[in-house]
Amino acid sequence: MTATTDTTATASPAGAVIKLIDVSKTYRSGSLEVAALRGVSVSIAAGEYVAITGPSGSGKSTLMHIIGCLDVPTTGSYRLAGQDVSQMSEAELAEVRNRRIGFVFQQFNLLPSMSAWRNVELPLAYAGVPRAHRRDAAMEALERVGLGDRVEHRPGELSGGQQQRVAVARALVGDPALILADEPTGNLDTASTRDALRLFGELHDAGRTVVLITHEADVAAATKRTIRIRDGAVYDDTATRPPPSRPVATMDSIVARHVSGAG
Ligand SMILES: Nc1ncnc2c1ncn2[C@@H]1O[C@H](COP(=O)(O)OP(=O)(O)O)[C@@H](O)[C@H]1O
Ligand SMILES: [Mg+2]
Repeated sequence: MTATTDTTATASPAGAVIKLIDVSKTYRSGSLEVAALRGVSVSIAAGEYVAITGPSGSGKSTLMHIIGCLDVPTTGSYRLAGQDVSQMSEAELAEVRNRRIGFVFQQFNLLPSMSAWRNVELPLAYAGVPRAHRRDAAMEALERVGLGDRVEHRPGELSGGQQQRVAVARALVGDPALILADEPTGNLDTASTRDALRLFGELHDAGRTVVLITHEADVAAATKRTIRIRDGAVYDDTATRPPPSRPVATMDSIVARHVSGAG
């Protein structure tokens, strides 16, 4: 019998767009060691909408930095779209960070002296996209987040919710397949939180993989799968609610189907 591959919920041949196996991360400063992650194994398929949740200090940001190729594991392996990240060159990593992943942070991380559209075009500038195209793409991204009438405003002239929408526009301007957001609603009021979650829902509906890091249960509830971590280890991984038409494929479920021959 030939091996079957699940083509309904996964894009990469390896099945998972994000695959961490037994990842640990230890920070060292002088003689002090902090084990921020201890043996984390997680697989996320293309197109999933996932929350990673846990208390402060549990290792969420460390995990996001590794998933986003901003940092590397101390031990264990990480494959992104089938590629071993530890084998990628600096140029490949830069390309991944600038074009394939869109980042959103709690503190928005916008440059205060630049207009909204200048902030949004930055990842494209780093990626070497021609100037004329950058402006058009930035305008389009700002339209998509409902800020078409604020493109010349600087961050200080926008509300917190609007600043986070600029940050979301910056995350999606390069049309990345993966959106990684670390506590994106942590500094937002209830109404702006709802707006931001609606945007992430739309990005997921458009086929992107969206990973939200949060310690807020109601934010996690907006996603379709919640991975819970505590003391640097995963202790629960649950479908938040049944997805409408297709099953959420985890590596385990794919392997289980192959082993059982049910394809
Ligand atoms: N750069 C660093 N150097 C040393 N310790 C760190 C560093 N970053 C995080 N830590 C420690 O690692 C643990 C996990 O931190 P973090 O991943 O930021 O957790 P969370 O995002 O869940 O609050 C904490 O104990 C934190 O103090
Ligand atoms: Mg954090």
